[in-house]
Amino acid sequence: MDGIYHLDGIKNIILVASAKGGVGKSTTAINIATALNQLKHNIGILDADIYGPSIPKMLGIKEKPKISEDKRFIPIEKFNMKCMSIGFLVNQKTPVIWRGPMIIKALKQMLNGVVWNNVDTLIIDLPPGTGDVQLTLCQKLKISGVIVVSTPQELALIDAIKGINMFKKLNVPILGIVENMSYLKTKSGEIIDVFGKGAVESSAKKNSINFLGKIPIDDLISKNGDKGIPFLIENNETDAGKKIMEIASYIDKKIK
Ligand SMILES: Nc1ncnc2c1ncn2[C@@H]1O[C@H](COP(=O)(O)OP(=O)(O)OP(=O)(O)O)[C@@H](O)[C@H]1O
Ligand SMILES: [Mg+2]
Repeated sequence: MDGIYHLDGIKNIILVASAKGGVGKSTTAINIATALNQLKHNIGILDADIYGPSIPKMLGIKEKPKISEDKRFIPIEKFNMKCMSIGFLVNQKTPVIWRGPMIIKALKQMLNGVVWNNVDTLIIDLPPGTGDVQLTLCQKLKISGVIVVSTPQELALIDAIKGINMFKKLNVPILGIVENMSYLKTKSGEIIDVFGKGAVESSAKKNSINFLGKIPIDDLISKNGDKGIPFLIENNETDAGKKIMEIASYIDKKIK
């Protein structure tokens, strides 16, 4: 296959990754994207989860992208962000069984075959794992950095480190690791460490990875995901909202 993809309209590319499923990659991707948009970045979101694209649902997008005169997709604009998803190209109700070459072709179409005009920062939501999608994107794109997401659970962390080692091997800069679903704060202010405590931060230290912070469990995060409205838009002032904003401010400074 041909060399590096040239993406004219995009300045920075950030990957949101974890080798484990269900830890909150897509949710974190959308919320960091929204926060960066509030920090004046023109944002693109690319949902590269070929196995279970969830960005269209999380952004409440029901329409399909239109095609430009030069036969490229025009990304859907929602909440002031440009969005493209593999979910627009496939039937969401049937599982996708794709082999390597097809995956690579679809990825290329979602990058080169999309009118990504004037995007400061493209956030790419990855599928779980360390497979063809991760490998292709790291080899074909100039990545500004990766955000790795993990929950505090041992099992999630083992997978997160697996992912980190893959990015290190591919010489992709790692912006840091986010601990998602870190704790639950009750109405009376009591903190419950549902999935354990401190493992992600100490493991980040051990692996010389920057620890980006702890995003608590908040039922509004999952409710907003289901509603199709980014949590951050409506909940800036919550503990989770402030933390997401803090992480985005760090990333903003780092990639500038
Ligand atoms: N901090 C949080 N508090 C409450 N719910 C959360 C939080 N983070 C994520 N969730 C919920 O957890 C579920 C999984 O999140 P999400 O889909 O973002 O994970 P994922 O890592 O992208 O999963 P997959 O590997 O399937 O792509 C969703 O229902 C989401 O709303
Ligand atoms: Mg996901």
